Amino acid sequence: MSAPPAAVARARELAREIERHNRLYYVDDAPEISDARYDELFGELQALEAAHPELASPDSPTQRVGALPSEAFAEVTHRVPMLSLANAFSDEDVAAFDRRCREALAADSVDYSCEPKFDGLAVSLAYEHGRFVRGATRGDGSQGEDVTANLRTIRAIPLVLEGEAPALLEVRGEVLMLRRDFESLNRRQAEAGEKTFVNPRNAAAGSLRQLDPKLTAARRLSFFAYGLGAADGFEPPPTHAGLLDRLAKLGFPVAKDRRVVAGERGLLAFYAEIGAKRTALPFDIDGVVYKVNRVADQQALGFVARAPRWAVAHKFPAEEATTELLDIEVQVGRTGAITPVARLAPVFVGGTTVSNATLHNEDEIRRKEIWRRDTVVVRRAGDVIPEVARVAKPGPREAGDAFLMPMACPQCGSAIVKLEGEVIARCSGGLVCPAQRKAALLHFASRRALDIEGLGDKLVEQLVDAGLVRTPADLYTLGIAKLAALERMAEKSAANVQAAIEKSKATTLARFVFGLGIRHVGEVTAKDLAAHFGTLDALMAADAAQLQEAPDVGPVVAESVAGFFAEGHNREGIEMLRAAGVHWTEGEARRAAAGAFAGKIVVLTGTLAAMSRDEAKERIEAAGGKVTGSVSKKTHFVVAGEEAGSKLDKARELGVEVLDEPAFLARLGGARGAPDT
Ligand code: IVH
Repeated sequence: MSAPPAAVARARELAREIERHNRLYYVDDAPEISDARYDELFGELQALEAAHPELASPDSPTQRVGALPSEAFAEVTHRVPMLSLANAFSDEDVAAFDRRCREALAADSVDYSCEPKFDGLAVSLAYEHGRFVRGATRGDGSQGEDVTANLRTIRAIPLVLEGEAPALLEVRGEVLMLRRDFESLNRRQAEAGEKTFVNPRNAAAGSLRQLDPKLTAARRLSFFAYGLGAADGFEPPPTHAGLLDRLAKLGFPVAKDRRVVAGERGLLAFYAEIGAKRTALPFDIDGVVYKVNRVADQQALGFVARAPRWAVAHKFPAEEATTELLDIEVQVGRTGAITPVARLAPVFVGGTTVSNATLHNEDEIRRKEIWRRDTVVVRRAGDVIPEVARVAKPGPREAGDAFLMPMACPQCGSAIVKLEGEVIARCSGGLVCPAQRKAALLHFASRRALDIEGLGDKLVEQLVDAGLVRTPADLYTLGIAKLAALERMAEKSAANVQAAIEKSKATTLARFVFGLGIRHVGEVTAKDLAAHFGTLDALMAADAAQLQEAPDVGPVVAESVAGFFAEGHNREGIEMLRAAGVHWTEGEARRAAAGAFAGKIVVLTGTLAAMSRDEAKERIEAAGGKVTGSVSKKTHFVVAGEEAGSKLDKARELGVEVLDEPAFLARLGGARGAPDT
């Protein structure tokens, strides 16, 4: 049965009208109708689609909110990593950035594309043949979380591209909450007796990570596009400014305040101009971003570590406020580091009320001459922990007002020691110290480690204080009865936590190594170590010299890792975890490291007869390679199937090795079944 032509026409008109109002609100910041009128149009379309279900295409504005809440977000590997930006804090930093670009490009003057630095969360949106198919958070830059269902609810994000439908287009940008939406959200939360959010950024982050897309939809998030990820069948413009214009044409909101300027003077003028109108903008920004405008120049400049050499974030100065320093206490961190913390008379700064701030360490307190009861300047920038910047006015400064590092840990009474040449004092109690035990457990259970959902601050506190859990291995022998017997723990929550603990037993070597909480071993280093050594036994057996053979592992990390595994109680803890059933797949990474494409960057173009593109990508990754979307000087191979296009030309132009299908299969085939040594 098909709908009457009048209904078809009206539905189309409504859909177009609704998307137009979405753009007016989110892109142009110039709404023409009230929320009530918008809801009316929306309601009319919903009613039409209910009467004629065949009218409700997946791209209809009514279909933004998907059906079911998910259990958890799946992991997504970014085809092109999501990088971060280097920061500039002063005019000198900006001058130095411009000088480096000019020198590297051997140019008298460089043009830059400037735009605001949105204070939200980075996401990557994938469009296949013009349709939005997948969206992910930045995560650690190489892997993020699949939040497609939630991103679909953001009306500023087009579900269908306008005017073009490339095979693949990944658009990068920032999800944020407009100030007016933040304020009405907090009003609603307060009226409903729910918790309010400290700033739009936190509200946006919390909203994007809702498991039920309905909740995200109710939060009204916004989006601005600022870059590109992988692309196929899309000829990118030769400049960044051109890219932003093109993204706008495709239907994405981009910064209205964007401009191409020449040289350092142009950059600083842009900074001053945006700084002056910062508070009048409908959203929070924490600086401006400068990008070398010509894409060819960007490619010539390349990257350092995880940030491009061709871009920099010029941050606005941190906000400051004055308040009284009530007391100085010390906190014990996961690795036993003792941090002096200022207890403050509450003060509003950088968008939140602050009553604690870090004093960093004893030397800093001496250098800044900070005493209890002084009036101090508190500083807070973006997501950074608030700090005491300096003394505004000294207090009475009587004997008890001076800070002295305690001799004993306030948590366990063990001696506090400070090694020669180190600035940080540490509690020597190790896992005897409940503070360190709690922090170690929290880290072990955290999302990027063993990912035990529901095992948060409060529960860990209860478990350790009740003496039920001392080390991570104890979690696995705890059992549901003991959990349920805890105060304020409902039967259902206990069952959920128990299930999460069980589930965490199957993990990856990288997560496990990260979860151990070895000093200087963050997530990236853990991945590198897991990939290099392949098995935990190999890693544990390595001495400092062998450890340094792993990528990016220097003497400090190597010492720390070797030292950790040399400790009897650490080895014992690991054995207990294994005995409790914690396991991981071993050898995969190592197989990949020995594979035919180990360490190689590969670009696929054209159609292969023997396998789909996804399959080809999987095979290359299993053989240790990395597949990216565009050809550059860093590309090792271009695999060219039938009807290969511009990427093949680019490869020839840059002298990148081209593999046709038989050569590709031969290379893959030769590596198959490589022994797992
Ligand atoms: S470009 C390779 N442009 O800043 C360059 N980033 O510190 C990638 N951000 O993770 C980023 N506004 O979340 C770029 N106009 C803008 C931005 C912007 C905000 C964020 C983004 C990124 C972080 C880097």
